[in-house]
Amino acid sequence: MKTIIYYYTGTGNSLWTARQLAQELGNAEIHPMTKMIKDGGTPKADAAGIVFPVHMWGVPGLVIQFLKTIQKDSAKYYFAFAVNAGQVSRTLIQLRNLMKSRGLPLSAGFDIVLPSNYIPWGGPGPAEHLQKLYNEAGKKIEAAAKYIAGKETGHIEKGSLWQRIVFTALYKMTYNMIPKMDRNFRVDDKCNGCGTCADVCPVGNILLDSKKPAWQHRCEQCLACIQWCPQEAIQYGKKTPAYERYHHPEIKLKDMMFKAK
Ligand SMILES: Cc1cc2nc3c(=O)[nH]c(=O)nc-3n(C[C@H](O)[C@H](O)[C@H](O)COP(=O)(O)O)c2cc1C
Ligand code: SF4
Ligand code: SF4
Repeated sequence: MKTIIYYYTGTGNSLWTARQLAQELGNAEIHPMTKMIKDGGTPKADAAGIVFPVHMWGVPGLVIQFLKTIQKDSAKYYFAFAVNAGQVSRTLIQLRNLMKSRGLPLSAGFDIVLPSNYIPWGGPGPAEHLQKLYNEAGKKIEAAAKYIAGKETGHIEKGSLWQRIVFTALYKMTYNMIPKMDRNFRVDDKCNGCGTCADVCPVGNILLDSKKPAWQHRCEQCLACIQWCPQEAIQYGKKTPAYERYHHPEIKLKDMMFKAK
């Protein structure tokens, strides 16, 4: 079975998930969603997977944009992995509905819990906790790969009822505000003008102005810029100078060097 896995990632958790899965499945290719958006279509495969981080309790805008590029007959079996920090809420149901409206059946959806990259609320947590999450996620991906290889259908994971009610309302409230949330970023005097922040931005939302990042208000809030800045010179709100930066330890800066435009 030839499988193509499409991913979107800010700090590597989803890319790591996609890689683990590809290894388990065999005969699998991995592509960034941004490339497909740029190329304007998806190649044919027996199965297609969508791996992405949960943002604000739902499907990120970039993934919604990517769904529009999937050609109807490009695969018969579709599966998804919603990578999150413990609050998957209604994300995979939302994804199933979005896909259904385009005539694409979502056969399986898995909730993968990995460390939080949402630095405005704090750092990723102690090393033992992170290791536990990596181990558990690895086991879950292994089991999910068997389900996918058997082309089983119907397993779509979701959060508790209260999560789905409360957080779905919050998702709807915040969704349209996301592009301009980059107004909360600022750069401090540790910045040396290296340009890494602009290079890792998946949507080309950062321009260098006199060697300093200037955000263009088309932000996806993936937080790659703040998390990958080698100088830790980007801040968001007041508290981030004290918070530890995060990216998945097996994902390197060179893995993030792709651009939409
Ligand atoms: C803007 C933003 C919103 C987030 N919202 C959620 C959320 O609603 N639920 C959750 O469990 N994790 C949330 N997270 C955490 C990420 O989903 C989680 O850390 C994920 O593993 C990051 O994957 P990545 O490294 O592939 O970007 C959010 C992160 C960001 C940046
Ligand atoms: S990555 Fe950091 S140090 Fe480099 S230009 Fe951007 S803000 Fe400045
Ligand atoms: S500006 Fe930063 S947070 Fe916004 S999309 Fe680009 S890298 Fe992600």
